[in-house]
Amino acid sequence: MQENNMYPFVNLPLPYAYDALEPYIDEKTMRLHHDKHLQTYVDNLNAAIEQDPRLKQLPLKQLIAYADKLPQPLQNAIRNNAGGVYNHRFYFDQLTNPSIVRPDGKLMQDINQTFGGLDKLKSELKTAALSVFGSGYAWLVVADKKLKIVTTPNQNTPLPECPILNIDVWEHAYYLKHYNVRADYINDLFDIINWDKAEERYEKCMRK
Ligand SMILES: [Fe+2]
Repeated sequence: MQENNMYPFVNLPLPYAYDALEPYIDEKTMRLHHDKHLQTYVDNLNAAIEQDPRLKQLPLKQLIAYADKLPQPLQNAIRNNAGGVYNHRFYFDQLTNPSIVRPDGKLMQDINQTFGGLDKLKSELKTAALSVFGSGYAWLVVADKKLKIVTTPNQNTPLPECPILNIDVWEHAYYLKHYNVRADYINDLFDIINWDKAEERYEKCMRK
């Protein structure tokens, strides 16, 4: 993936074609999700940073960490929009079609140990994603060297815990195809997870 971790932020292209995730996620949803929703977070993040030029020196994760120290309403603007950029880049980067790879390295071993198998992990992630009231995310993260499932509201991130996978349950992620049936979207999403990417992320998280 191209690097763009500091102001001015740009909307990096998807690492695959807009229709690459068909039929699980449709091209129209991908175009809107990436080109409109993520673009808006990028634009609003740049606009928020321009209100306090010191923020131009901070990479994306540090902006998120620093948000709490900022005066309102800049605090909300940075938290929501830096989070929106981070969460969406993370989401798009973990998808592929068709998903033919299963986790087979250390990640799979630890999924078996922690959750009792891949299907159990999916079931727990799905329950978590369904439990998010309104908009937010479910995440598989590494916390204290252990796999754990967490949820975040709005565009909050699980940082500083180290994320492996996320499920965007904002309606814009699925409403055109799956309507109001979040569970169907989650099932479809499991079929397009790039487990090589998850493995790569896991190895990095465990080295920290
Ligand atoms: Fe989204």
